[in-house]
Amino acid sequence: MDLTDRPRRLRTDGLRPLVSETTLHETDLVAPVFVDATTDERVPIESMPGHERVPVDAAVERVSEVLETGVEAVIVFGIPESKDEQGSRAYASAGVVQEAVRRITAETDAYVITDVCLCEYTDHGHCGVLEPHAEDDPTLTVENEPTLDLLAKTAVSHAEAGADMVAPSAAMDGMVGAIREGLDAAGYSDIPIMSYAAKYESAFYGPFRDAADGAPAFGDRRHYQMNPANAREAMREVALDVEQGADVLMVKPGLPYLDIIRDIREAYDHPVAAYNVSGEYAMLHAAAEKGWLDLDGVAHESLLSLKRAGADLIITYFAESVAKTLSAGYRA
Ligand code: PBG
Repeated sequence: MDLTDRPRRLRTDGLRPLVSETTLHETDLVAPVFVDATTDERVPIESMPGHERVPVDAAVERVSEVLETGVEAVIVFGIPESKDEQGSRAYASAGVVQEAVRRITAETDAYVITDVCLCEYTDHGHCGVLEPHAEDDPTLTVENEPTLDLLAKTAVSHAEAGADMVAPSAAMDGMVGAIREGLDAAGYSDIPIMSYAAKYESAFYGPFRDAADGAPAFGDRRHYQMNPANAREAMREVALDVEQGADVLMVKPGLPYLDIIRDIREAYDHPVAAYNVSGEYAMLHAAAEKGWLDLDGVAHESLLSLKRAGADLIITYFAESVAKTLSAGYRA
């Protein structure tokens, strides 16, 4: 055979890293941390092996563990001591996230992002204030405008506690603008917003909802989160968030939505984030436990794929384990 082009020439051990188009660094990763006001102990999350709900007293310890792996950023989720119709513990200055963030920022150098949503704080488990009769009428769920006020209050309370960035995930119309306005009015115009801009109504959130106790008590989130069938609609959502002042654009979940990450990457110059969600983590762990997949291999390949699609940063439950394998010299 007379082959002039032999791509295999580039695949020697020495050349492979030099011609790698995508690299993964521990500083690309954001580790989720769950702080739980209902417990005095660290409680393992069964469906997310290696993850725990920790009491406020252990928040600094938990974040320090993350930092030791080389990961420098965390996103904090809270499980409040009590829930009500309005999700009032989401914006309480002594709420679980606010207390945890105060301590984490005082005692560590972590970059602290907070998830801004009401679903962990409402007794009905929806991401905002209910429309009248929502419990009896399947066409109703969350009332948009009253929810915006509460989300803005929540974001401001996180900023007051010392959060470096807020990440609204409630999928309400006008959410980014309302939060931007709230932050600016409270003197936090320098706090960036990472919007869950393309957030799908996904079955991959199951383990998270167990972990954060945030499953809706009735109905589902399809009246506010996006239909997995839609890609063009994601671009509308993103355009609206950009107009309203989003600084970082997130796609969630990650792996099933690589096309959306790529579309946004190509159309915008904003940083793009991918959320490698709980179900993406749980399924790989479950298969690895059965001996069907090599966990380090699939974890690394998953995160690399998100970057290759166009993500700059990745929120992932694999943050610590992948950072450890990277510093041990693991290469795909
Ligand atoms: C809050 C929120 C959810 C997740 C992140 N923020 C749950 C949901 O939207 O139902 C899911 C994250 C994961 O599955 O890892 N709204």
